[in-house]
Amino acid sequence: MQSTSESARFDGRTALITGGATGMGFATAGLLLDEGAKVVITGRGEDRLKRAAERLDAGDRLLALPADVSKPADLDRLMGEVREHFGRIDVVFANAGIGVFKRIEEFTEEDFDSVVDANFKGVFFTVKHALPLLTDGGSIVINASWTHHRGLAVGSLYAATKAAAANLAKTLASALSDRGIRVNAISPGYIDTDMFRESVPTDEAREASRQDVVLGRIGTPEEVASAVAFLASDAASYVNGVDLLVDGGVANSIPA
Ligand SMILES: NC(=O)c1ccc[n+]([C@@H]2O[C@H](COP(=O)([O-])OP(=O)(O)OC[C@H]3O[C@@H](n4cnc5c(N)ncnc54)[C@H](OP(=O)(O)O)[C@@H]3O)[C@@H](O)[C@H]2O)c1
Repeated sequence: MQSTSESARFDGRTALITGGATGMGFATAGLLLDEGAKVVITGRGEDRLKRAAERLDAGDRLLALPADVSKPADLDRLMGEVREHFGRIDVVFANAGIGVFKRIEEFTEEDFDSVVDANFKGVFFTVKHALPLLTDGGSIVINASWTHHRGLAVGSLYAATKAAAANLAKTLASALSDRGIRVNAISPGYIDTDMFRESVPTDEAREASRQDVVLGRIGTPEEVASAVAFLASDAASYVNGVDLLVDGGVANSIPA
């Protein structure tokens, strides 16, 4: 990835993207690198990270470091390495998450703990551990989901963790205002990633999802990346504490 002079919104800035080896995190890493940023991607799967780094091909502007966001000790180690390499962070995209979709009767305590750990505890501690490195005037974007805006029968656990994560945008926008740090959430709709393909495994179910979207199609990771880059950029300098739906209309409208 090369930075181009006409599109360098993130020149001189460093972005940390959790879950950056795949899906929306990967697409956001690619976009921010294209627009001049230095980028740190994290995830649990070391092979996935290695493959992502090869595909992003950004030389010393990219660091791919393993870390499990649900383990504060991993986050401590991660931030130490980021400090050593880049010295600071200007943008955090707290994107890592998992989806377990079942009816409430079928959930186990193990399901509960794993989803809460990744989607809520992980976001909370990612932000907490990034704060000492985050520059004043920086930006945090939290990946929530359309499912906390509209009830989904198999989404009780997932949607509740996403509601909690999105809520952090409001409280942290207030808490970090003295440092000029903006905090926003995004709520993607059905986006064509590994998570979507695993959670909606059959052609029939994907077709039903597609028909549920007012725009009549599943979204792409790049369409989400573009919204994340907007929120992280100076173009959104007065956007703070919001949860931006990037969902083709799925949460708020019924297809005609
Ligand atoms: N796809 C959709 O339709 C959709 C819709 C709304 C919201 N979302 C949200 O969007 C975010 C990105 O998901 P995606 O759709 O792009 O799917 P994805 O490709 O599965 O991305 C999820 C990423 O999170 C990482 N991850 C999961 N648990 C982690 C942990 N404990 N620590 C560190 N990294 C972890 C995964 O890597 P490892 O497994 O290697 O750790 C993976 O790279 C998630 O928060 C998801 O809930 C997705």
